[in-house]
Amino acid sequence: MTRIPSLFFATGAILALIGMAWGIQMSATHDHTLSPAHGHLNLIGFVAMSVFGTFYALCPRAAAARLALVHYALSLASVLVLVPGIVLAITGTTEALAKAGSVLAILSMAVFAYTALRNGVGAGD
Ligand code: HEM
Repeated sequence: MTRIPSLFFATGAILALIGMAWGIQMSATHDHTLSPAHGHLNLIGFVAMSVFGTFYALCPRAAAARLALVHYALSLASVLVLVPGIVLAITGTTEALAKAGSVLAILSMAVFAYTALRNGVGAGD
C-alpha cells in the first residue's frame, strides 16, 4: 500500500491551501475571530498529516498494513469534524462537534503511537 504516504501528503497540501487562503482572508478583513479554527486546520490538516506521511514513507511495512488506511481516514475525519466544530464553538452555536472532532483527533494520534511503537523505522522494513 505505497499510496498511503501520497494520500497523506496530497491531503495535507490541499488542506494547507485552504487554511492559507483562510489566513489571507482573515488578514484582509482584519477579522481574526476564527483564527483557532484556521490554526487547527493548518496544524492537524497540514503539519500532522505531513508528519504521518513522512513516517509511512520511511516505514513501508507500516504503510502496507490495513491500519494505515484506518489511520488516514481517522486523521481526515478529525480535521473535517474538528475545524467546523471550533467555528461552531466560537460562534456560540454548539460545542458538540468540537468535542467529537477532539475524540477523532486523539484516536488518530493513538493509532500513530501504536503504529510507531509496533513498527519503528529502519532496518527490516
Ligand atoms: C497564507 C498563509 C497564512 C496566513 C495569511 C495566516 C494568517 C493568520 C492570521 C491573520 C492569524 C490570526 C493572528 C492573530 O489573531 O493574532 C493566524 C493565526 C494562526 N495561524 Fe496562520 N496564516 C497562514 C498560514 C498558517 C500555517 C501554514 C499555519 C500552521 C502550519 C498557521 C497556524 C496558525 C496558528 C497556530 C494561529 C493561531 C491560532 C489561534 O489564535 O489560536 N497559519 N494566521
